Amino acid sequence: MTSPSSGWDARADLVVVGSGVAGLTAALDAVAAGLRVVVVTKDDLDAGSTRWAQGGIAVVLGDVAGDDTDRHIADTLTAGAGLNDALAVAAIVEGGPAAFAHLRARGAVFDSSGNGLARTREGGHTAFRVVPAGGDATGAEVERALVATARGTAELPLLTGHVGLDVALDAAGRVVGLWVADDHGRPGLLRAPAVLLATGGYGQLFSSTTNPSAVTGDGIALALRAGATAADLEFVQFHPTVLYTGPAVGRRPLVTEAVRGEGAVLRDRAGVAFMTDVHPLADLAPRDVVAAAITRRMAATGSECVWLDATTIDGFVARFPTVFASCADAGIDPRVDLVPVTPAAHYSCGGVVADVDGRTAVPGLYAAGEVARTGLHGANRLASNSLLEGLVVGARAATAVATDLAGPRPALADPVARPAAVPVADRRVVQRAMSASAGIGRDAAGLAAASDAIESVTGRVLPADRAGVEDAALTLLAQAVLAAAGTRRETRGCHVRTDFPDRDDVWQRESLVVTLDGDGRPVVGGGVLAGVA
Ligand code: SIN
Repeated sequence: MTSPSSGWDARADLVVVGSGVAGLTAALDAVAAGLRVVVVTKDDLDAGSTRWAQGGIAVVLGDVAGDDTDRHIADTLTAGAGLNDALAVAAIVEGGPAAFAHLRARGAVFDSSGNGLARTREGGHTAFRVVPAGGDATGAEVERALVATARGTAELPLLTGHVGLDVALDAAGRVVGLWVADDHGRPGLLRAPAVLLATGGYGQLFSSTTNPSAVTGDGIALALRAGATAADLEFVQFHPTVLYTGPAVGRRPLVTEAVRGEGAVLRDRAGVAFMTDVHPLADLAPRDVVAAAITRRMAATGSECVWLDATTIDGFVARFPTVFASCADAGIDPRVDLVPVTPAAHYSCGGVVADVDGRTAVPGLYAAGEVARTGLHGANRLASNSLLEGLVVGARAATAVATDLAGPRPALADPVARPAAVPVADRRVVQRAMSASAGIGRDAAGLAAASDAIESVTGRVLPADRAGVEDAALTLLAQAVLAAAGTRRETRGCHVRTDFPDRDDVWQRESLVVTLDGDGRPVVGGGVLAGVA
């Protein structure tokens, strides 16, 4: 779709913001349901996190002896450390086979083994149920198939290079569209009774992350400013193993957990395989356990990394071509060398509070994928449940929008307000403060210091272009994560407090809910959103 001129005004039934697995699945299904849909994305279609996912899609297809959906549900609940919504977990896991079949019908090709699909295993899974594509390039294949299908769908305009400024609301607080700006900061209004946020998480809050540069929490900021709630924001999942090549800022190469699933072992600088003393599943313990154990081991041994010993894996190059290429770029051959690895920010377990059909508290506003908090992940996401969630909730959200828009519709009212000035800090200060104090191992003093450092460089600015929108979103997310992390005085899942090192079941079943006050600042409250049956 070409860039419209300044002050343009266009109409659709549904605006989808974001073009990863959840956004494109929702958009394609909504078009199939007869809706006029436009996809808006600030970058290229494949610039989000989806294409970087390596391991696979966790899905039970009935062809693996000893595995079933109950077991997948149980593993998801164990990983989530008591904060999952059991009904959401069941709905999403049970929706997996149909969503996976639909993705294959759209052209995604998965690896085979013998007469069937290949399977691998990652941390927290008690069965080989993760379906890979391209060895360790699953997200790239999923994104390729969805982008190709979207590009081949004439009825689906794809508005790249446009950033969402604010959700447009009428006087009753209903969605009437999305304010956007193009790459030159020229504003426009997309009028629609439904907006679906599928913008991913907020990994760029941290200096070192597996997330690409586009992943700055924009959708959560849009939703909060529109009056929606967010929850579980303190649960930032750190992937245990990114390739360590010295201190670095920005996206780091992932070393998929499937490498450990195929037999690789973590070792410290003395060569000790330390995970066997930490957890019964050793190197395949849930991700939060492994990341925290690595962090402790690095501190205890004075190392900047630990090492992954993959030298026992046969056929490494064919099985893990992406990891092999990253290692080769750094002069490492995983067939003979130990691979230096360290944890890095990876996945936002919390997000905009939405049900499994993507509906939020704001009429007409939907959220799907990493931007949403459906209750699937709890305090720690089970590996490879994210592509699954994007596929299932993306499809369900399209159905929900079609259902909600069915029947006679009143004319769309005009929006009551235009985008306004919001708190914005320098993102380098934000990333430094969050990395120093809000990673694995937080305490009250560090969280307060990070908050003060960010506050001292925060002013009120009207975001008018991509950089401004991203800085505003990162500022808001930093304030919200720090407030929630300071409030949760326990250690649970991927929220590790060194001053409250134990799990405290006072906090069981209690998700921390974030809303905005009149000045646009996050306020944290308790809320029983979860409920493990
Ligand atoms: C990995 O392959 O280790 C990452 C997959 C995921 O985050 O689910």
